[in-house]
Amino acid sequence: MRILSGIQPSGALHLGNYFGMMRPAIELQEKGEAFYFIADYHSMTSLFDANERRKNTLDVALDFLACGLDPKKSVFFKQSAVPEVTELSWLLSTVTPMGLLERAHSYKDKVAKGISPSHGLFAYPVLMAADILIYDSNIVPVGRDQKQHVEMTRDIAIKFNEQYGQTFLIPEPQIRDEVALVPGVDGQKMSKSYGNTIDIFGDEKIIRKKIMGITMDSRTLEEPKPDADKNIAIQILNLLNKTEGDNEMIRLRAGMYGYGSVKKRLADVYWDYFADARKKRAELAANLDYVNQVLTDGATKARTPAQTVLRRARKACGLD
Ligand code: ADP
Ligand code: TRP
Repeated sequence: MRILSGIQPSGALHLGNYFGMMRPAIELQEKGEAFYFIADYHSMTSLFDANERRKNTLDVALDFLACGLDPKKSVFFKQSAVPEVTELSWLLSTVTPMGLLERAHSYKDKVAKGISPSHGLFAYPVLMAADILIYDSNIVPVGRDQKQHVEMTRDIAIKFNEQYGQTFLIPEPQIRDEVALVPGVDGQKMSKSYGNTIDIFGDEKIIRKKIMGITMDSRTLEEPKPDADKNIAIQILNLLNKTEGDNEMIRLRAGMYGYGSVKKRLADVYWDYFADARKKRAELAANLDYVNQVLTDGATKARTPAQTVLRRARKACGLD
C-alpha cells in the first residue's frame, strides 16, 4: 500500500496541520510505503518571495522530522526535486474539464481572501492530481478541506483512463473524523490565513498569550456550563490529552470554574505535549547538513517510481 501526502511551505505549521495531516501521516508510515513531500511548487500560487519559500521549506522539513517523520520508514522530499510531476500535470490538464476546476471550493476561497487569481492557482488541483497519481498512491491522508481535491484527482484519473486506457490507480482520501477540523483561537477553522493559529513550535510567551486569548462566552465563573464539550479550549485539549479534556469539561459543567483555568491547563498540556519534539527540532536545526541529505536521498528514491508512471502515461497518449 502506498500512502502519499504533501504540505505547502507557506508559513509556520500549527495544530490544525499537526492533527489534521502530520500526525495521521506519521502514524501511517508504519502501515505501508509512505511518500511525503513539501509542496513548494504549490506554494508558488500564493507566496511570491523566494527567500521566504526557502526558509519555510526548511522549517517544514525540520517540523515534520521533529514530530516523528522517520526517513528510514518514509520517503521525504521536496516536490520540485521531482520535476516529472509538472509534465504529468500537463498531460492531465488536457483531460480536465474546466467545469471541474470551476467548482473547486479552495480556489473560490483563496480568491475571496485576496490571492490574485492566476492560471497556476486555478490549475492547482491538476498539479495536486499529478502529485498523487505519479506515485501510484492508494491512500492520501489529509484534512477535510483537501477532500475535494482528492475527489477531483479521482475524476481526472478516471477521465484519463477512459480516454487512453488503464494508466492510473484511483486513490482514496483518508480523513480522520475526530480531527477533521481543528478550531482556531477564534472558533473558525485554524488556518495560517485567518491569523488564528497555535503553532507547533512557537515562542512560549506568544503561544501562552494566544491560548489565553481564545474566544469564550461571557458567562460568569460560578455558572455551570452544560455545553462545555463545544468549548474551543476543551476541543483542542481533547486532541492533546483526552483525559485532561474530560476532567476540565466536568469542572466547567459543574460550575465555580472559570475559563481562565481551562486555558491555563491547555497551555501547560500543549507545552508538555511537544517537549520532546521541541528538543529534537533544536538538534536538527543544529545539523542542517543531515536535513538536506534526507531531502536529497528522498528525492532520489521518489524519482524512480515517478519516472515509471510518467513513461506509462506518455505511452498511453502516444508521446512515446
Ligand atoms: P492552512 O489552512 O493553515 O493554510 P494548509 O491548507 O496548508 O493549512 O493545510 C495543510 C494540511 O493540514 C492539509 O492536509 C489540511 O487539510 C490540514 N489542515 C490545515 N488546517 C487544518 C485544520 N484546522 N483542521 C484539520 N486539518 C487542517
Ligand atoms: N494542497 C495541499 C494543501 O494545501 C498540499 C498538497 C499538494 C497535497 N499536493 C498534494 C496534499 C498531494 C496531498 C496530496 O494542504
